[in-house]
Amino acid sequence: MLDVNNLSKSYVADGKSVKAIDGVSFSVPKGKIFTLLGPSGCGKTTTLRSIAGLETPDSGEILVSGTPVFSSATGLRVPANARGFGMVFQSYAIWPHMTVFENVAFPLQVRGREPKLSRKQIEEEVGRVLEVVALGGYESRQATQLSGGQQQRLALARALVAKPSLLLLDEPLSNLDAKLRERMRFELKRLQREVGITSIYVTHDQSEALALSHDIAVMDQGRIVQVGSPRDIYERPNNDFVAEFVGTTNFVSGKVLGRHADPSGYLIETASGNLVVPTTDQLNPGDKVTISIRPEDVQVSQESLPGLNIGAAVVDTHMFLGFCQDLELRWGETRLEARVHPSLSVSVGAPVHVRIDPQRCVLCK
Ligand SMILES: Nc1ncnc2c1ncn2[C@@H]1O[C@H](COP(=O)(O)OP(=O)(O)O)[C@@H](O)[C@H]1O
Ligand SMILES: [Mg+2]
Repeated sequence: MLDVNNLSKSYVADGKSVKAIDGVSFSVPKGKIFTLLGPSGCGKTTTLRSIAGLETPDSGEILVSGTPVFSSATGLRVPANARGFGMVFQSYAIWPHMTVFENVAFPLQVRGREPKLSRKQIEEEVGRVLEVVALGGYESRQATQLSGGQQQRLALARALVAKPSLLLLDEPLSNLDAKLRERMRFELKRLQREVGITSIYVTHDQSEALALSHDIAVMDQGRIVQVGSPRDIYERPNNDFVAEFVGTTNFVSGKVLGRHADPSGYLIETASGNLVVPTTDQLNPGDKVTISIRPEDVQVSQESLPGLNIGAAVVDTHMFLGFCQDLELRWGETRLEARVHPSLSVSVGAPVHVRIDPQRCVLCK
C-alpha cells in the first residue's frame, strides 16, 4: 500500500549538516500496522513527517498504492492535505474552542467527498469512535477541560473518524499513564483489526512495538537496521543493537572452537563453558562472536539438567515480581540475567543448575 524508497534528509543545525534519515526504505502492506522503533533522535519523526508531506526529503521516493506522492527525481511533491492521511502526533493538537463532539465531527462535516452525511449519521459515527477511545458520554465537554490522556484519545478519535487510507501515529500513547497506555494498546489493536486501517506507528517503547505491530523496522542513527515480525525481531535480532534495544538480553562473548553437528552450528568457547549455537553462517575457528540470550531462555533448576549448554551457577540477586522472578546469576565468569516462574524456590547465594536451549542462543553480528 505504501512504499518508501531510499529516503534521505539532512538538517543544518549550528552550521553543521545532520543526517536525520539516511537511505530509509520499507513497504507497508494494506491493512497492517508497521512500526518504526528506535531510540530518541534516530529519525522516526522525520520519516513520518516526510510521509505526511510535512517535511521535504532531500532524496528518495514515496508511493501510495503504486502512485508517487513524493519523488526527488521528478520534483513531485503532493501537498500534505491532498495526501488524505490521518495523523496523531505526540503533542496532541485538538481544537480548544470546540467541544469533544465538535472536535470529532469536524472532519466529517468538512470532508470534500460526497455523499454528505446527515446529522444523525454524524452523531452515530462520532458516538462509535468516542466509545472506542473510551470517551463516550463526554460529547458536550469542552476539549480544554479534558486531561492530557483524554485529549490524546480525542486526537485519535478525530483521526479515526475520517477513515483515512493511511494513519500516521507518532508516539500517540506517550502522554498516558501506564494502565491507560496498556488499555489503549488493546483498543488500538482491536480497532485496527476491525477497521483495517493501514497504519505507521512510531515509538521508542519496545513493548508497545512488540504488542501492536505486524512488522517492525528498528532504526538506529537514521537507518533501518532490521525489519521483521515482532517475534523475528525479538527472537532473531540480527545485531547487538537490536538485541539490546528490543528487550533485555544477556550478551556472552566467545570464540569459535569448531563445527557442531546436532544441532548444526558451532561450538563456542566462553569464559564460563562451551555453548552450542546453531547457525547457517560461515564461521572459522578462532572467530570472536557475541551470543545473545534472553533472560526468559535461561532455565534454572535445583536439580541438574540433562542436554547441551548446561552449567552450574550461583544466585547473586533475586527480585520477586509477582508474575515472575528476576535473578542475576554468576555462571563462572559470566553474569546471566534469568527470568523464571514465580513458583521456583530460590535464595541468594544458593547454587543452581542452568541450561540454555541451543535454539534460544542467537549469534549477533
Ligand atoms: N527541524 C530540525 N532541525 C535540525 N535538526 C533536526 C530537526 N528535526 C530533527 N532534527 C534532528 O534529526 C535527527 C532525527 O530526529 P527525529 O526524526 O525527530 O528523531 P526521533 O523522532 O527518532 O526522535 C535528530 O538528530 C534531530 O536532532
Ligand atoms: Mg520523534
